[in-house]
Amino acid sequence: MAGNQAKTPALPSDTELVQAQAELWRHSLLYLKQMTFKCAIELGIPTAIHNLGGAASLPELNAALSLPPAKQPYLARLMRQLASSGVFTVVDGDAMSGTYGLTPLSSILIDGVRIDGDAHQEAIVLALSSKYYVEAAMGLTDWFRKDHPTPTPPPCGQVFGGLRSLTDCCGGDGTTARAIAKAFPHVRCTVLDLPQVINKAPPSDGSVTYVAGDMFHSIPRSQAVMLKVVLHFWSDENCVKILAQCKKAIPARTDGGKVIIIDVVIGSSTSGPILETQLLMDMLMLVNFRSKQRDENDWSDIFKKAGFSEYKIVKKLGARCVFEVYP
Ligand SMILES: C[S@@+](CC[C@H](N)C(=O)[O-])C[C@H]1O[C@@H](n2cnc3c(N)ncnc32)[C@H](O)[C@@H]1O
Repeated sequence: MAGNQAKTPALPSDTELVQAQAELWRHSLLYLKQMTFKCAIELGIPTAIHNLGGAASLPELNAALSLPPAKQPYLARLMRQLASSGVFTVVDGDAMSGTYGLTPLSSILIDGVRIDGDAHQEAIVLALSSKYYVEAAMGLTDWFRKDHPTPTPPPCGQVFGGLRSLTDCCGGDGTTARAIAKAFPHVRCTVLDLPQVINKAPPSDGSVTYVAGDMFHSIPRSQAVMLKVVLHFWSDENCVKILAQCKKAIPARTDGGKVIIIDVVIGSSTSGPILETQLLMDMLMLVNFRSKQRDENDWSDIFKKAGFSEYKIVKKLGARCVFEVYP
């Protein structure tokens, strides 16, 4: 027999075998635990039991939920399973026809109950059980198998090719800076972000330097400073302050000094899905941050106010553009 032939696995005993088979089914069916929990929330069962005084029989619950009477036997099966997983409790009688009560888990799902000021505990359940999360999880095997390339920096040669050094201002965990350092190894890259972000950045592989700080106070000196999807969060006044700090951090234009801005420019495409995307992104800024996306005139005004002499749009990237702004 060949030495490397796989050994026949030792078979489980009969008792272990039936136990293993039950475990196999349980693992395969666990998705239904999430879905029945979701269903309980969508039907409003915790609030209905609460409104019925904290305990409810099946007919009371069926009526309070305004379900068709024919659904009552199915509701019994749903309640039995939810009680077995700790969402509800059987306070009287048996699990199929008894009286159901709330557990600590279901009591935080009653409408209007606040936990740490948040009255919508159900939102997290509904989001995490939505098809988006479920579909993403279904792609896990593919993700493991694929050799995903390191993301390449979106704007390329002409922007970074001639640089000696670059500060990615508000560069987060350094993902973009590391990609630039990989694609352009001659560029010394520094990432500036707030201390709470830099402290959680992945351990440095030596390709970038991390600096914790506040861009309104100081930006590490380098030949170019990059602001990628940063300025649209800030008012015009604050953008001028940020850009003035960038200007202090870079050399004169004759020494290659420039600020690289990657952001939305409304109207860079005058119709179709890109313009619609830009206008929707403007609404997003309004609704969430009371800030805005800008058209080219808005950008030009800000650059002038911050003391820059000239700018160019060097590349269009879908809804965004890459600006080079010169001192
Ligand atoms: C939208 S994210 C930037 C995205 C990043 N440039 C990218 O391309 O993925 C905004 C970043 O700005 C950082 N930030 C906010 N205020 C800051 C400040 N005053 N100084 C430095 N970084 C700041 C935040 O911590 C956050 O990481």
